Order: sequence, then C-alpha cells, then structure tokens
Amino acid sequence: MKVDEALDLIAEIPDFPEPGILFRDLTPLFGDPAAFATVIDALGDVVGPDADVLAAVEARGFVLAAAVGYARGLGVALVRKPGKLPSVAARVDYALEYGTATLELPEGSLRAGQRVAVVDDVLATGGTVEATAKLVEGAGARVSGVAVVLELAALGGRARLAGLPVTALRTC
Ligand code: PRP
Repeated sequence: MKVDEALDLIAEIPDFPEPGILFRDLTPLFGDPAAFATVIDALGDVVGPDADVLAAVEARGFVLAAAVGYARGLGVALVRKPGKLPSVAARVDYALEYGTATLELPEGSLRAGQRVAVVDDVLATGGTVEATAKLVEGAGARVSGVAVVLELAALGGRARLAGLPVTALRTC
C-alpha cells in the first residue's frame, strides 16, 4: 500500500472536542493492518539512523511509537499525562489547541546524552512536542528529530519548534 493511500483513511470529525475544531481521527488507519504497517514503516524511515530511543506522547503516540520501536529495534520513553506515574522525573505545563495540558516524564526513562526521536500522531500548535522536547532536554538528552503522521500547517507548530527537525508524512 502507498503511504498516501494509508493516510487517506484518516477521518475528519468537525466540532470535536469543541465547536470549531476539526479533529483528525486515526482510528480507521490503526484498524487497517496494511495501512498501519505502511505508516509504521514510513515513520521508521523518518526517525533516521541516529536515534538512540523514541519518546512517545500519550495516547495515540504510544500506539505509533511502540510499533516503530519494535520495527527499528529502539526502546520507547512514555511521556504521560499527569497522575499516572509513581515516580516523575520532570513535569511541563503547556497550552494546547483547545485548553491546557501537562506532561510528565517517568523517572529513569531517558539517560543524559541520548539522541531522542519524538513520535506522535498529529502536530498542531506544537505545544505538545515543545513540552516533550523540554522534558527530553531536562533529562540531559537531546531531540534528534520529530516524526509525526499529520502536520496541520495552519496552526504553526513547525515554526514554534524552530531548530528541531520535524518530518510529517502528510502536511495539510
Ligand atoms: C493531540 C495529538 C497530539 C497533540 C497535538 O493529543 O495526539 O499529541 O494533540 O497538538 P499540539 O501540537 O497543538 O500540541 P490529545 O491531547 O488530543 O491526546 P490523545 O492522543 O490522548 O487523544
């Protein structure tokens, strides 16, 4: 299957989770084995040869990063929403396209000097990846790249992440 064909399965849901927001739903893509494999392989290529570990953003980023990590032989640091972790290395509050959010990095999930590829489904305002990058840098590691399935260009995430190499399988 071609990557574009797989990405065409992403659904657009108007007015979710709030009026005026066009929600991109990867559920049909996750549910189609050929499309899922195609997207995982494409993300695996994007991650590049120099990453030591992946950082995955809860929740849809977990699905993608787990499969990419398996395919590429890399471990995954799980960047979590608050209240889930028994031992928190660092916490960052940030603004989302709709509302505010907090992300936490589990103690012991990254080591100083590691090159970290961030994996997520959608890059919108860039707040989530920016917060993840702060957690990575706070651990003494560095972001080697950012790999997302979908970039919503109008929301300016790439500019907000200036200095970080961002690759999206599709920009719209
Ligand atoms: C969505 C998406 C990204 C983030 C992108 O996550 O999965 O992580 O928003 O937005 P940003 O670039 O404006 O920060 P959401 O909080 O909806 O979490 P979910 O994966 O748990 O549904």
